[in-house]
Amino acid sequence: MESLIALVNKIQRACTALGDHGEGSSLPTLWDSLPAIAVVGGQSSGKSSVLESVVGKDFLPRGAGIVTRRPLVLQLHRIDEGKEYAEFMHLPKKKFSDFAAVRQEISDETDRETGRCSKVISTVPIHLSIFSPNVVNLTLVDLPGLTKVAVDGQPESIVQDIENMVRSFIEKPNCIILAISPANQDLATSDAIKISREVDPKGDRTFGVLTKIDLMDQGTNAVDILEGRGYKLRYPWVGVVNRSQADINKSVDMIAARRRERDYFQSSPEYRHLSERMGSEYLGKMLSKHLEVVIKSRIPGLQSLITKTISELETELSRLGKPVAADAGGKLYMIMEICRAFDQTFKEHLDGTRSGGEKI
Ligand code: GDP
Ligand code: NA
Ligand code: MG
Repeated sequence: MESLIALVNKIQRACTALGDHGEGSSLPTLWDSLPAIAVVGGQSSGKSSVLESVVGKDFLPRGAGIVTRRPLVLQLHRIDEGKEYAEFMHLPKKKFSDFAAVRQEISDETDRETGRCSKVISTVPIHLSIFSPNVVNLTLVDLPGLTKVAVDGQPESIVQDIENMVRSFIEKPNCIILAISPANQDLATSDAIKISREVDPKGDRTFGVLTKIDLMDQGTNAVDILEGRGYKLRYPWVGVVNRSQADINKSVDMIAARRRERDYFQSSPEYRHLSERMGSEYLGKMLSKHLEVVIKSRIPGLQSLITKTISELETELSRLGKPVAADAGGKLYMIMEICRAFDQTFKEHLDGTRSGGEKI
Protein backbone atom coordinates (compact mmCIF):
# COMPACT_ATOMS: atom_id res chain seq x y z
CA MET A 1 0.00 0.00 0.00
CA GLU A 2 1.20 3.45 -0.82
CA SER A 3 2.08 5.50 2.25
CA LEU A 4 -0.27 8.28 3.28
CA ILE A 5 2.42 10.92 3.15
CA ALA A 6 3.45 9.93 -0.36
CA LEU A 7 -0.18 10.30 -1.43
CA VAL A 8 -0.54 13.67 0.25
CA ASN A 9 2.63 14.76 -1.54
CA LYS A 10 1.18 13.71 -4.86
CA ILE A 11 -2.08 15.47 -4.30
CA GLN A 12 -0.32 18.65 -3.22
CA ARG A 13 1.79 18.56 -6.35
CA ALA A 14 -1.23 17.93 -8.53
CA CYS A 15 -3.23 20.75 -6.93
CA THR A 16 -0.35 23.14 -7.47
CA ALA A 17 0.16 22.03 -11.06
CA LEU A 18 -3.49 22.65 -11.74
CA GLY A 19 -3.12 26.27 -10.64
CA ASP A 20 -5.98 28.48 -11.78
CA HIS A 21 -7.94 25.60 -13.31
CA GLY A 22 -8.89 24.57 -9.80
CA GLU A 23 -10.55 27.85 -8.89
CA GLY A 24 -14.11 27.59 -7.69
CA SER A 25 -13.73 23.92 -6.76
CA SER A 26 -12.82 22.33 -3.45
CA LEU A 27 -9.20 21.98 -4.54
CA PRO A 28 -7.85 25.09 -2.81
CA THR A 29 -9.59 23.96 0.42
CA LEU A 30 -8.17 20.49 -0.06
CA TRP A 31 -4.67 21.93 -0.46
CA ASP A 32 -5.08 24.00 2.71
CA SER A 33 -6.25 20.96 4.65
CA LEU A 34 -3.15 18.93 3.90
CA PRO A 35 -0.43 19.21 6.51
CA ALA A 36 3.02 20.65 5.76
CA ILE A 37 5.98 21.61 7.91
CA ALA A 38 7.27 25.20 7.82
CA VAL A 39 10.66 26.28 9.09
CA VAL A 40 10.66 29.61 10.96
CA GLY A 41 13.24 31.63 12.83
CA GLY A 42 15.47 34.66 12.80
CA GLN A 43 17.79 35.42 9.94
CA SER A 44 20.82 33.09 9.95
CA SER A 45 19.45 30.99 12.80
CA GLY A 46 20.16 27.93 10.64
CA LYS A 47 16.80 27.25 8.95
CA SER A 48 18.16 26.34 5.53
CA SER A 49 20.93 24.30 7.13
CA VAL A 50 18.40 22.26 9.14
CA LEU A 51 16.38 21.56 5.99
CA GLU A 52 19.47 20.43 4.13
CA SER A 53 20.49 18.12 6.94
CA VAL A 54 17.02 16.58 7.09
CA VAL A 55 17.19 15.96 3.34
CA GLY A 56 20.81 14.86 3.55
CA LYS A 57 21.83 16.87 0.49
CA ASP A 58 23.43 20.20 -0.33
CA PHE A 59 21.02 22.08 -2.51
CA LEU A 60 19.92 25.29 -0.79
CA PRO A 61 21.49 28.71 -1.04
CA ARG A 62 22.84 29.42 2.47
CA GLY A 63 24.91 31.99 4.31
CA ALA A 64 25.00 35.27 6.14
CA GLY A 65 22.35 37.91 5.51
CA ILE A 66 19.06 37.45 3.68
CA VAL A 67 19.57 34.52 1.34
CA THR A 68 16.15 32.85 1.28
CA ARG A 69 13.90 35.44 -0.34
CA ARG A 70 10.95 33.40 -1.56
CA PRO A 71 9.11 30.55 0.18
CA LEU A 72 10.43 27.21 -1.01
CA VAL A 73 7.92 24.39 -0.88
CA LEU A 74 10.01 21.25 -0.79
CA GLN A 75 8.48 17.84 -1.25
CA LEU A 76 10.53 14.77 -0.46
CA HIS A 77 9.44 11.59 -2.19
CA ARG A 78 10.98 8.33 -1.16
CA ILE A 79 11.66 6.01 -4.09
CA ASP A 80 12.61 2.37 -3.71
CA GLU A 81 15.61 2.38 -5.97
CA GLY A 82 17.35 4.33 -8.66
CA LYS A 83 19.27 7.52 -8.81
CA GLU A 84 18.06 10.54 -6.91
CA TYR A 85 16.90 13.59 -8.80
CA ALA A 86 15.05 16.86 -8.33
CA GLU A 87 12.32 18.58 -10.30
CA PHE A 88 10.93 22.12 -10.20
CA MET A 89 7.28 22.86 -10.78
CA HIS A 90 8.23 25.71 -13.10
CA LEU A 91 10.41 23.38 -15.22
CA PRO A 92 8.20 20.31 -15.44
CA LYS A 93 10.17 18.25 -17.97
CA LYS A 94 13.64 18.80 -16.57
CA LYS A 95 15.21 16.30 -14.17
CA PHE A 96 18.13 17.64 -12.12
CA SER A 97 20.67 15.10 -10.91
CA ASP A 98 23.29 17.74 -10.06
CA PHE A 99 22.26 19.40 -6.79
CA ALA A 100 24.61 22.33 -7.30
CA ALA A 101 22.47 23.11 -10.35
CA VAL A 102 19.38 22.88 -8.14
CA ARG A 103 20.86 25.53 -5.85
CA GLN A 104 21.66 27.73 -8.85
CA GLU A 105 18.13 27.35 -10.20
CA ILE A 106 16.63 28.36 -6.82
CA SER A 107 18.77 31.52 -6.91
CA ASP A 108 17.92 32.28 -10.53
CA GLU A 109 14.22 31.66 -10.04
CA THR A 110 14.27 33.91 -6.94
CA ASP A 111 15.86 36.66 -9.03
CA ARG A 112 13.35 36.21 -11.83
CA GLU A 113 10.54 37.03 -9.44
CA THR A 114 12.22 39.77 -7.41
CA GLY A 115 13.82 41.45 -10.42
CA ARG A 116 17.44 40.76 -9.47
CA CYS A 117 17.30 43.09 -6.49
CA SER A 118 19.13 40.92 -4.00
CA LYS A 119 17.35 42.37 -0.99
CA VAL A 120 13.72 42.21 -2.00
CA ILE A 121 11.42 39.33 -1.05
CA SER A 122 8.45 37.76 -2.80
CA THR A 123 5.56 35.74 -1.41
CA VAL A 124 5.31 33.58 -4.56
CA PRO A 125 6.58 30.10 -3.63
CA ILE A 126 9.09 28.03 -5.57
CA HIS A 127 8.02 24.37 -5.71
CA LEU A 128 10.75 21.75 -5.66
CA SER A 129 10.45 17.96 -5.44
CA ILE A 130 13.26 15.61 -4.55
CA PHE A 131 13.00 11.91 -5.38
CA SER A 132 15.47 9.73 -3.54
CA PRO A 133 15.90 6.37 -1.81
CA ASN A 134 17.55 8.27 1.05
CA VAL A 135 14.74 10.61 2.13
CA VAL A 136 11.67 10.22 4.28
CA ASN A 137 8.37 11.37 2.78
CA LEU A 138 7.83 14.94 3.93
CA THR A 139 6.61 18.33 2.74
CA LEU A 140 8.74 21.15 4.10
CA VAL A 141 8.58 24.90 3.54
CA ASP A 142 11.70 27.09 3.84
CA LEU A 143 10.88 30.71 4.60
CA PRO A 144 12.84 33.97 4.69
CA GLY A 145 14.22 34.76 8.15
CA LEU A 146 12.62 37.23 10.52
CA THR A 147 14.61 40.44 10.92
CA LYS A 148 14.54 43.49 13.15
CA VAL A 149 15.69 46.29 10.85
CA ALA A 150 15.82 47.05 7.14
CA VAL A 151 19.38 47.20 5.82
CA ASP A 152 20.87 49.21 2.98
CA GLY A 153 18.76 49.10 -0.14
CA GLN A 154 15.81 47.34 1.51
CA PRO A 155 12.42 49.00 1.66
CA GLU A 156 11.44 50.08 5.19
CA SER A 157 8.47 47.72 5.05
CA ILE A 158 10.65 44.61 4.74
CA VAL A 159 10.60 43.66 8.43
CA GLN A 160 6.82 43.67 8.49
CA ASP A 161 6.54 42.09 5.02
CA ILE A 162 8.62 39.08 6.08
CA GLU A 163 6.68 38.71 9.30
CA ASN A 164 3.36 38.81 7.44
CA MET A 165 4.56 36.22 4.95
CA VAL A 166 5.77 33.87 7.67
CA ARG A 167 2.58 34.34 9.63
CA SER A 168 0.41 33.60 6.57
CA PHE A 169 2.04 30.14 6.39
CA ILE A 170 2.17 29.22 10.04
CA GLU A 171 -1.22 30.50 11.14
CA LYS A 172 -2.96 27.77 9.13
CA PRO A 173 -4.05 25.07 11.54
CA ASN A 174 -2.63 22.39 9.23
CA CYS A 175 0.88 23.86 9.46
CA ILE A 176 3.41 22.09 11.66
CA ILE A 177 5.92 24.66 12.86
CA LEU A 178 9.62 23.94 13.09
CA ALA A 179 10.79 26.75 15.34
CA ILE A 180 14.53 27.22 14.85
CA SER A 181 16.45 28.91 17.66
CA PRO A 182 20.23 29.22 17.86
CA ALA A 183 21.65 27.86 21.13
CA ASN A 184 24.23 30.64 21.31
CA GLN A 185 21.50 33.25 21.84
CA ASP A 186 19.09 33.66 24.70
CA LEU A 187 15.82 31.80 24.07
CA ALA A 188 13.96 34.79 25.49
CA THR A 189 15.01 36.68 22.36
CA SER A 190 14.07 33.90 19.92
CA ASP A 191 11.99 35.20 16.99
CA ALA A 192 10.90 31.67 16.26
CA ILE A 193 9.44 31.12 19.72
CA LYS A 194 7.80 34.54 19.76
CA ILE A 195 5.89 34.13 16.50
CA SER A 196 4.99 30.46 17.00
CA ARG A 197 3.56 31.21 20.42
CA GLU A 198 1.36 33.87 18.81
CA VAL A 199 -0.20 31.49 16.29
CA ASP A 200 -0.04 28.30 18.38
CA PRO A 201 -0.32 29.36 22.03
CA LYS A 202 -0.72 25.81 23.35
CA GLY A 203 2.21 24.51 21.32
CA ASP A 204 0.11 21.72 19.80
CA ARG A 205 1.89 21.96 16.47
CA THR A 206 5.24 23.52 17.31
CA PHE A 207 8.54 21.62 17.36
CA GLY A 208 11.56 23.41 18.83
CA VAL A 209 14.92 22.89 17.17
CA LEU A 210 18.07 24.17 18.83
CA THR A 211 20.89 24.87 16.35
CA LYS A 212 24.51 25.92 16.84
CA ILE A 213 24.96 23.87 20.03
CA ASP A 214 28.64 23.66 19.07
CA LEU A 215 28.91 27.45 19.22
CA MET A 216 27.79 27.95 22.81
CA ASP A 217 30.05 29.82 25.21
CA GLN A 218 32.48 27.60 27.09
CA GLY A 219 31.06 26.50 30.39
CA THR A 220 27.45 26.70 29.21
CA ASN A 221 25.32 23.96 27.68
CA ALA A 222 21.80 23.33 26.42
CA VAL A 223 20.90 20.45 28.72
CA ASP A 224 18.21 22.36 30.62
CA ILE A 225 16.39 23.27 27.42
CA LEU A 226 16.81 19.86 25.82
CA GLU A 227 15.46 18.17 28.94
CA GLY A 228 12.46 20.48 28.98
CA ARG A 229 13.32 22.66 31.96
CA GLY A 230 14.44 25.87 30.22
CA TYR A 231 11.55 26.61 27.93
CA LYS A 232 8.99 23.87 27.92
CA LEU A 233 7.25 22.97 24.69
CA ARG A 234 4.70 20.25 24.31
CA TYR A 235 7.15 18.17 22.28
CA PRO A 236 10.76 17.74 23.39
CA TRP A 237 13.37 20.02 21.84
CA VAL A 238 15.73 18.51 19.31
CA GLY A 239 19.31 19.75 19.30
CA VAL A 240 21.33 19.78 16.07
CA VAL A 241 24.83 20.64 14.94
CA ASN A 242 24.85 21.84 11.35
CA ARG A 243 27.87 22.63 9.27
CA SER A 244 29.61 25.89 10.06
CA GLN A 245 30.38 28.43 7.36
CA ALA A 246 34.00 27.20 7.43
CA ASP A 247 32.77 23.62 6.78
CA ILE A 248 30.69 24.84 3.87
CA ASN A 249 33.63 26.76 2.43
CA LYS A 250 35.73 23.60 2.75
CA SER A 251 32.90 21.57 1.13
CA VAL A 252 32.53 19.15 4.04
CA ASP A 253 29.95 16.74 2.65
CA MET A 254 26.65 15.93 4.25
CA ILE A 255 27.46 12.33 5.14
CA ALA A 256 30.61 13.39 6.97
CA ALA A 257 28.67 16.20 8.65
CA ARG A 258 25.96 13.84 9.88
CA ARG A 259 28.52 11.41 11.20
CA ARG A 260 30.29 14.21 12.99
CA GLU A 261 26.99 15.43 14.43
CA ARG A 262 26.25 11.97 15.78
CA ASP A 263 29.73 11.71 17.28
CA TYR A 264 29.32 15.14 18.83
CA PHE A 265 26.24 14.11 20.80
CA GLN A 266 27.49 10.63 21.66
CA SER A 267 30.88 11.72 22.87
CA SER A 268 30.08 14.82 24.89
CA PRO A 269 29.49 13.93 28.56
CA GLU A 270 26.64 16.42 28.96
CA TYR A 271 24.61 15.20 25.94
CA ARG A 272 25.45 11.51 25.79
CA HIS A 273 22.31 10.43 27.66
CA LEU A 274 20.16 12.39 25.15
CA SER A 275 21.98 11.34 21.99
CA GLU A 276 19.22 8.94 20.86
CA ARG A 277 16.87 11.84 20.27
CA MET A 278 19.30 14.45 18.98
CA GLY A 279 20.54 15.32 15.50
CA SER A 280 19.17 15.91 12.01
CA GLU A 281 18.62 12.29 11.12
CA TYR A 282 16.46 11.75 14.18
CA LEU A 283 14.62 15.02 13.45
CA GLY A 284 13.70 13.90 9.93
CA LYS A 285 12.38 10.53 11.07
CA MET A 286 10.49 12.02 13.99
CA LEU A 287 8.81 14.60 11.72
CA SER A 288 7.83 12.03 9.14
CA LYS A 289 6.29 9.85 11.84
CA HIS A 290 4.45 12.83 13.30
CA LEU A 291 3.15 13.86 9.88
CA GLU A 292 1.76 10.38 9.35
CA VAL A 293 -0.03 10.52 12.71
CA VAL A 294 -1.50 13.94 11.86
CA ILE A 295 -2.72 12.75 8.47
CA LYS A 296 -4.29 9.66 10.02
CA SER A 297 -6.12 11.78 12.56
CA ARG A 298 -7.52 13.89 9.72
CA ILE A 299 -8.66 11.01 7.52
CA PRO A 300 -12.41 11.43 8.07
CA GLY A 301 -12.37 15.16 7.20
CA LEU A 302 -10.02 14.69 4.29
CA GLN A 303 -12.02 11.80 2.98
CA SER A 304 -15.25 13.75 2.69
CA LEU A 305 -13.40 16.63 1.05
CA ILE A 306 -11.86 14.20 -1.43
CA THR A 307 -15.18 12.57 -2.23
CA LYS A 308 -16.54 16.04 -2.94
CA THR A 309 -13.54 16.90 -5.10
CA ILE A 310 -13.90 13.70 -7.11
CA SER A 311 -17.52 14.39 -7.93
CA GLU A 312 -16.72 18.01 -8.86
CA LEU A 313 -13.94 16.84 -11.12
CA GLU A 314 -16.22 14.29 -12.76
CA THR A 315 -18.74 17.04 -13.50
CA GLU A 316 -16.05 19.34 -14.83
CA LEU A 317 -14.59 16.59 -17.03
CA SER A 318 -17.94 15.66 -18.52
CA ARG A 319 -18.57 19.35 -19.18
CA LEU A 320 -15.28 19.55 -21.06
CA GLY A 321 -16.31 16.50 -23.07
CA LYS A 322 -14.10 13.90 -24.69
CA PRO A 323 -11.37 13.85 -25.79
CA VAL A 324 -10.37 16.04 -22.85
CA ALA A 325 -8.45 19.20 -23.61
CA ALA A 326 -4.79 18.26 -23.25
CA ASP A 327 -3.91 20.87 -20.67
CA ALA A 328 -6.76 21.53 -18.25
CA GLY A 329 -8.59 18.24 -18.86
CA GLY A 330 -5.44 16.15 -18.60
CA LYS A 331 -4.53 17.68 -15.27
CA LEU A 332 -8.05 17.36 -13.89
CA TYR A 333 -8.04 13.74 -14.89
CA MET A 334 -4.71 13.19 -13.18
CA ILE A 335 -5.94 14.75 -9.95
CA MET A 336 -9.09 12.68 -10.05
CA GLU A 337 -7.01 9.52 -10.36
CA ILE A 338 -4.90 10.57 -7.40
CA CYS A 339 -8.01 11.41 -5.37
CA ARG A 340 -9.36 7.95 -6.12
CA ALA A 341 -6.11 6.35 -5.00
CA PHE A 342 -6.31 8.49 -1.89
CA ASP A 343 -9.84 7.36 -1.20
CA GLN A 344 -8.80 3.74 -1.59
CA THR A 345 -5.81 4.13 0.71
CA PHE A 346 -7.95 5.84 3.33
CA LYS A 347 -10.34 2.93 3.27
CA GLU A 348 -7.50 0.47 3.66
CA HIS A 349 -6.09 2.43 6.59
CA LEU A 350 -9.50 2.63 8.22
CA ASP A 351 -9.90 -1.11 7.75
CA GLY A 352 -6.86 -1.39 9.96
CA THR A 353 -4.61 -2.75 7.26
CA ARG A 354 -1.02 -2.43 8.26
CA SER A 355 0.60 0.72 6.87
CA GLY A 356 3.35 0.15 4.35
CA GLY A 357 4.48 3.67 5.01
CA GLU A 358 7.03 5.42 7.13
CA LYS A 359 9.20 3.25 9.29
CA ILE A 360 11.39 4.82 11.88
P1 GDP B 1 19.11 30.77 7.75
O1 GDP B 1 19.34 32.19 7.37
O2 GDP B 1 18.30 30.67 9.01
O3 GDP B 1 18.55 29.93 6.64
O4 GDP B 1 20.54 30.19 8.17
P2 GDP B 1 21.59 29.33 7.33
O5 GDP B 1 21.22 27.91 7.30
O6 GDP B 1 21.83 30.01 6.01
O7 GDP B 1 22.87 29.44 8.29
C1 GDP B 1 23.48 30.66 8.58
C2 GDP B 1 24.96 30.42 8.93
O8 GDP B 1 25.07 29.72 10.18
C3 GDP B 1 25.68 29.56 7.91
O9 GDP B 1 26.97 30.09 7.73
C4 GDP B 1 25.79 28.18 8.58
O10 GDP B 1 26.96 27.49 8.21
C5 GDP B 1 25.85 28.55 10.06
N1 GDP B 1 25.25 27.49 10.91
C6 GDP B 1 23.96 27.07 10.89
N2 GDP B 1 23.75 26.10 11.83
C7 GDP B 1 24.93 25.92 12.45
C8 GDP B 1 25.37 25.02 13.52
O11 GDP B 1 24.61 24.20 14.09
N3 GDP B 1 26.69 25.12 13.89
C9 GDP B 1 27.56 26.00 13.30
N4 GDP B 1 28.82 26.01 13.73
N5 GDP B 1 27.18 26.84 12.31
C10 GDP B 1 25.90 26.80 11.87
NA1 NA C 1 20.99 33.54 6.25
MG1 MG D 1 17.72 30.47 4.74
